[in-house]
Amino acid sequence: MFKSIFRRGDLSKETNTQNSHLRVDIHAHLLPQLDDGPTDIEQSIEIIQEMYDIGYRKLILTPHVMSGYYNNTTEGILNSLQILKSTLLQQNIQMELEAAAEYYVEDNLFRLIERREVLTFGGSRQYLLFEVSFVSKVSCIIEAATKIRQAGYTPVLAHPERYISLQDKNIIERLILNGIIFQLNIGSLTGYYSKQAQEIAEFIISKNLAVFWGTDCHSYNQLQSIKQTFKLNIFQEAMKQNVLNNSLLGERLISYA
Ligand SMILES: [Fe+2]
Repeated sequence: MFKSIFRRGDLSKETNTQNSHLRVDIHAHLLPQLDDGPTDIEQSIEIIQEMYDIGYRKLILTPHVMSGYYNNTTEGILNSLQILKSTLLQQNIQMELEAAAEYYVEDNLFRLIERREVLTFGGSRQYLLFEVSFVSKVSCIIEAATKIRQAGYTPVLAHPERYISLQDKNIIERLILNGIIFQLNIGSLTGYYSKQAQEIAEFIISKNLAVFWGTDCHSYNQLQSIKQTFKLNIFQEAMKQNVLNNSLLGERLISYA
């Protein structure tokens, strides 16, 4: 009975390039003109429609917030979200949307935290998605995560497998011991970013340490590689672990899942 409320939702017709596990994406750059994602709303809609067709039902949109490069404000992000939501409604695309951000660790982030102006996801769990410089020292990442936690938020490190400084199994375990939650990029499992990132992603799965998965989607073309990942045995195995994405579904969608 719930299928009838969706424009295209017949999961019985899934092919092997569809995502039969993840209904929620927690990392996507699909708000138009805010960062290095879509350059207009038509592109955003095209990608969101495709994500609906491959099985997603809720997207948490996470534009970069990085001084000097992506000077996004909380207000600007929420305004953009409202426009996109209205457009989806007009086009009868039943994708649930929320906005958070991918915060670069810098003084601006801690100012926003102090003012309680950061955008988080997961309701009272207040997950805060953050990224660091690709040459960041481990101690700096741990220090940033500690500050985030002390402010009452739950630090979620975006794609740890992609950082060269973290491509060490002992370091990965050290980050976990410091209360950092990992969000892996789906594309890492096909070597989309690098062979090293793929190996670290596989290691993280072998230790059952991936809590969230994200597309980190910036473009329609990137989805093609993500769809390839859905076919991999290692992705299927990872989905049997303690993955929290679908716990973020709204009640209506939980009924459907
Ligand atoms: Fe990202």
